Amino acid sequence: MALRKILTFENEALKKVCRPVTSFDARLGVLLDDMKETLTQANGVGLAAPQVGILRRVVVVDTGEEMLELINPKILETSGEQDGLEGCLSVPDRFGMVKRPNYVKLEAQDRNGEWFEYEAEGLIARCFCHETEHLDGHIFTEKAYHMLTDEEYERLMNGEGADK
Ligand code: NI
Repeated sequence: MALRKILTFENEALKKVCRPVTSFDARLGVLLDDMKETLTQANGVGLAAPQVGILRRVVVVDTGEEMLELINPKILETSGEQDGLEGCLSVPDRFGMVKRPNYVKLEAQDRNGEWFEYEAEGLIARCFCHETEHLDGHIFTEKAYHMLTDEEYERLMNGEGADK
């Protein structure tokens, strides 16, 4: 396993539509293992392959209970709404308010090519939306209705005005 370099938003790789994974081989396994290690090291919730310069539909998500490997993920169903703060490992130190569905059901393939479904609420549902958008070349700042100023961020980190 090895850490991969996380690209930032100005990199062209983050603006591309990624291709589906078609071969479920050892190379895919290495990519997934590296992405998981990179995500853990960066203390993030989710990481999409284009963020490490690979234009394939691969995402890893740390639910806090398990590390999900999502290959060719497709959102099947959404419901409800949540409104909250979002960030991205490719947009360091910037946070914005984004409305997302509160519930998301998706299907994806595992590293052997087997399809499975997964349902999530709250933070992980938000993450599924955020990461699948990366695969289509989009970044959360496009969806944010307000990007926090440095002052607002400081205030939030100091516990004032935090709504959680
Ligand atoms: Ni992101």
